[in-house]
Amino acid sequence: MLEKRRVAVFGAGYIGLVTGACFASLGHDVVVRDIQRERIDILQNGGVPIHEDGLAELIAENADRLTFTLDAEEAVRESDVVYVCVDTPPTPSGDADLSRIWQVIGTLREARHLAAVVVKSTVPVGTGARVRAAMDRGGLQHVGYASNPEFTAEGHAVHDFMHPDRVVIGADDPETAKLVAQLHEGVDGPVVTMDVASAEMVKLAANALLATKISFANEIATICEATGADVEHVVHAVGLDHRLGPHYMKPGVGWGGSCFPKDSRALRAMASNSGYSFQMLSSVIEVNDLQPRRAVQRLKDELDGVLADRTIALLGIAFKPGTDDVREAPSTILASRLLAEGAAVRCWDPLAPPLETAPWSVATRYATPLEAMTGADAVIIVTEWPELREVAWEKAAAAMARPLIFDGRNLLDAQQMGSLGFTYMSVGRRTVRGTA
Ligand code: UGA
Repeated sequence: MLEKRRVAVFGAGYIGLVTGACFASLGHDVVVRDIQRERIDILQNGGVPIHEDGLAELIAENADRLTFTLDAEEAVRESDVVYVCVDTPPTPSGDADLSRIWQVIGTLREARHLAAVVVKSTVPVGTGARVRAAMDRGGLQHVGYASNPEFTAEGHAVHDFMHPDRVVIGADDPETAKLVAQLHEGVDGPVVTMDVASAEMVKLAANALLATKISFANEIATICEATGADVEHVVHAVGLDHRLGPHYMKPGVGWGGSCFPKDSRALRAMASNSGYSFQMLSSVIEVNDLQPRRAVQRLKDELDGVLADRTIALLGIAFKPGTDDVREAPSTILASRLLAEGAAVRCWDPLAPPLETAPWSVATRYATPLEAMTGADAVIIVTEWPELREVAWEKAAAAMARPLIFDGRNLLDAQQMGSLGFTYMSVGRRTVRGTA
C-alpha cells in the first residue's frame, strides 16, 4: 500500500516538472512552485512550458493531484516533503551558484512540520552537510535531509524517472532514507542508499564518465580519419565487449546540453578547489571544445580553404533530438565559428524556440530542411533529428549550389549519399565523393 505524501517541488524546469508529474502519477499530492510568473501561468492554464516526451499527458492525467503556485509558503504549509529542483548555474569561479537552493531553505523557517527536505539539484559534494547545518541552526533539527540526484536524460526523462537504472538516496539517517524510498514506490528500478556526500558524488561522477566515453569515441574518430579506419565499425565492435558496453560511444560534433558541460566543469572546479588537478577530465572537456571547431576546419579545407561568403545550412539547433533545449548546444559554436569565418548561416530545427541572441539573430531560419539547403554551398547535420532521414536528398542535391554534406552525427548512409552525387563527409570515416 502506497503511503501517500504531500510533496512540494521547488522549481518548474525540466527536472522539477518531471519529478512533480511522476510523483503525482505514483499517487502523491504534489504542488510545484516556481518564481517565474509566466511559467506558473502557463501551467495553471493547463499548458506545459517545455517540451518533454509524455510530460503534457502525464500532467493532464494527474491534474487532480498536481497544482502550481508562485507562493513558497503556500507550497510548504501543507507538505510533508520539500523537493529542491532549482538550477545551480556556474559562478565566474566555476563553483556552482547555490543561491537558489539557499532561497528555498530560507522559506522553510516556519516549516517545523516537515518530514524531510530532499535536494535533487546537482550540487558540489558537501552541499548537503552545509544545508543540514543551516537547517539545524534554524530549528529544523528534527527534519530529515536527503540527496536524491537525478539521472534522467532530456527527451525521455519521464520514462527514465519511472524505469531508472537506480534510484540513489543519500541520507545520514535511516528514517529519511526510508521515507524517500517509499516516495518512489511504484518506480521500476533498484534503490541504492548511501551517505549524503557519496550520493552527491555519484551524480557528478556518472555524468563525467558518460562525457568521457563520448570524448574518447571522438578522439578515436579523429585517429580513424587520419588512418583510414571507420569509427562506426570500431565503436560497434568495441561496445560488444560487455565490460565496455555500446552506450555513449557515438562520435559527433560534441556533447552539449544543460548537464555534461556544466557538470564536468563543476567537478573539475571542485577538484581544483581542493588543490587537485583532474587532468583526465580537463582533456575530456578540451576534446569536446575542439570537436565543432575541427568540423568547421574540415569543411573549410573541402571548400578550398574559403568559408567567407559561402552559405552554410545547419540542420538541427537543439543539443540533441527530442528536445527544444538549446543550452550549450554544439550548433551555437558551429554557427558562431562559421560567422566568424565570414560565411552566411541558415538553419532549421523542428523544436528549438525562436532565438533572438547571436549567433542565431544573424542566421536565417527555415521551416524545412530542404528550404534551408536550397542554394547552400554546404550543409552540416548537427542534431540527429529522425526527420533528416526522410529528407528527399536527391532534391537537396539538385537544389544546393554545391552538393556537400558534413554529417556531424553519422546519421546518413555514406554510399547512398555518394550515389546521389554528394560529397559526403562525416566523423571518423572516409569522405565519399559523389558518383552521380
Ligand atoms: C545527461 C545524462 O545522460 C543524464 O543521465 C543526466 O541525468 C542528465 O545529463 C543531467 O545531469 O540532468 P542529457 O543532458 O539530457 O542527460 O543528454 P544526453 O542524452 O546524455 O546527451 C548529452 C550530449 O551528449 C548530447 O549533446 C548528445 O548529442 C551527446 N552524445 C550522447 C554524443 O555525442 N554521443 C553519444 O553517444 C551520446
